[in-house]
Amino acid sequence: MASTSLSFLALFLLSLGSIFADSKRLPPLPVPPFHIKQAEILRYLGLDKRSIKLPALYVFGDSFVDAGNNKYLQTPSNDANYLPYGIDFGGVPTGRATNGRTVVDFIAQVTGLPFPPPVMELSESQRKNITTGFNYASSSGGIAHIPMALTPIFGDILNLDEQIQLFKDSITNIKGRFDSDESFNSYMSKSLFFINIGANDLGIYWELGRLHTTFPKVKNYTRFLLKELCKRLEAMYQLGARKFVVNNVFPFGYQPVNLHLKMNGISFVEDMNRRAASFNGRLPKILTKLDKSLRGSTFVLFDMYKLFEDVRARPATYGFTNVKDSCCVDISGNQTRPCLPYSVPCSDRASHVFFDPFHPSESIHFLWLRRLLKDNSFTSPRNLLQLIKS
Ligand SMILES: *[C@@H]1O[C@H](CO)[C@@H](O)[C@H](O)[C@H]1NC(C)=O
Ligand SMILES: *[C@@H]1O[C@H](CO)[C@@H](O)[C@H](O)[C@H]1NC(C)=O
Ligand SMILES: *[C@@H]1O[C@H](CO)[C@@H](O)[C@H](O)[C@H]1NC(C)=O
Repeated sequence: MASTSLSFLALFLLSLGSIFADSKRLPPLPVPPFHIKQAEILRYLGLDKRSIKLPALYVFGDSFVDAGNNKYLQTPSNDANYLPYGIDFGGVPTGRATNGRTVVDFIAQVTGLPFPPPVMELSESQRKNITTGFNYASSSGGIAHIPMALTPIFGDILNLDEQIQLFKDSITNIKGRFDSDESFNSYMSKSLFFINIGANDLGIYWELGRLHTTFPKVKNYTRFLLKELCKRLEAMYQLGARKFVVNNVFPFGYQPVNLHLKMNGISFVEDMNRRAASFNGRLPKILTKLDKSLRGSTFVLFDMYKLFEDVRARPATYGFTNVKDSCCVDISGNQTRPCLPYSVPCSDRASHVFFDPFHPSESIHFLWLRRLLKDNSFTSPRNLLQLIKS
């Protein structure tokens, strides 16, 4: 036990150390206008000399990147489908759990692609006709299947397995649009596969799961999750994916819901962040191994944990004045529920790290893009621009 907590502490200190050692300062840069063309956003980001091309962007994960799939599923986890969600997305709620664009929308703008549409929203003919990528992400989704006892709470969301199954269907649907196997394989190998998953497994599944059924201890659970993630990344590779961006798990103890939640006066913030750090600590080795064993693959790891630690350590650098509160008024009024429908959110949305008690603001999504795009102190072994070019 002592050695476990020591290694957690070491991990924690290590990650803190690295923030101050090597994260470059980024000047604050406001979120660019919603309607912005590729050439303009490239200029805005100081990349105007670049020609950036990506045939397709495929998105897997949870509510951080869900663009509306849960609206079409039988699930209570379908909260972002009304204003003020989408207030900065042309004023249109879509199911994105934030005020504006997500990191994958920004990637689409930078690479000149349409926003990857949520696959559940599309007709059969659209599913056969779109070759610029789809979004399979599902709010409350995880690496693992939801523990049986918890299915009434979450309903019919898409776990990673089901997201990959849908991706398999997509391939079957669109393959006919390519002249040859070679041209299809080349398309797949140049496309980007973006994965943001694990926080629900380590957070709410684990916390609720333990109340209802026997659950492994953190270390075993983490190992189990990593093994499952590894299998699924391999499955994606077998289907043709080559260029991966895998985000590690953010310190979800810092979600407003968790900062404001105390049970019997006890805060679980540190426990939660340690769980994320335990998972993250073992992730690089797994990705390096996959990178070596799967020919032609590149697995880019993005350090979400560090992104949040860095923002908390020096919020003003990025123009944030509030790191701990929800921008919107939530249903219970105590930062424990999603936004209250049609309520007026804070006016200084750009200066909040969180838009609702669970999800980051568009400003964080944009910072995520900027770090991922060209900052090698947050990405390994290369940044997104290098991955696209490779
Ligand atoms: C398929 O896409 C093309 C453009 O890429 C469009 O002109 C056509 O109407 C689409 N067909 C269907 C059935 O959606
Ligand atoms: C943890 O995993 C080890 C080896 O895989 C196993 O022997 C042990 O019973 C597990 N412990 C728990 C609490 O699940
Ligand atoms: C938040 O408010 C709701 C409704 O008033 C209440 O049931 C709940 O216990 C409160 N939670 C916390 C953590 O204060």
